[in-house]
Amino acid sequence: MLNVGKIEEGLVLDHIKAGKSLSIYYHLQLDKLDCPVALIKNARSNKMGKKDIVKVECDINMLNLDVLAFIDHNITVNIVKDGEIVSKKELMLPKEIKNVIRCKNPRCITSIEQGLPHIFVLADEGKEIYRCKYCEEKYSEHF
Ligand code: CTP
Ligand code: ZN
Repeated sequence: MLNVGKIEEGLVLDHIKAGKSLSIYYHLQLDKLDCPVALIKNARSNKMGKKDIVKVECDINMLNLDVLAFIDHNITVNIVKDGEIVSKKELMLPKEIKNVIRCKNPRCITSIEQGLPHIFVLADEGKEIYRCKYCEEKYSEHF
């Protein structure tokens, strides 16, 4: 299997749906981070057939894992210290997600007033449905 060198310190995001690594790169704002990043596309996987992997060599507190869980909670987050994986995190759908997506309801207070935080609340965990905290408009399209 293709392998871009192991990392010393940072995060390996594994089991990303094939083709989604670039979208994850932008949503985690890795373009704004000044550290080494590797995107691996269409790696062979026994479980998934094909998968993407993102490796980030940085302080692990630099990344917003809530955003990651919202994008795809099936991603495995491997935390690497001194060249070894020290933990594998399962992501949970966040109960609340702030300033990541916007409400599309033109009559929503967040569409009318500037400066309010855009907050969505997990309304149905099984169906992965989020609703605007202010007007309950459903958000369904995923990234
Ligand atoms: N990895 C890395 N740098 C390290 C250690 C691991 O980049 N210092 C990467 C590996 O290349 C691999 C991923 O982290 O892509 C997960 O490694 P590992 O847990 O060893 O693989 P699996 O056992 O296949 O993982 P899982 O059981 O979660 O499928
Ligand atoms: Zn709204």
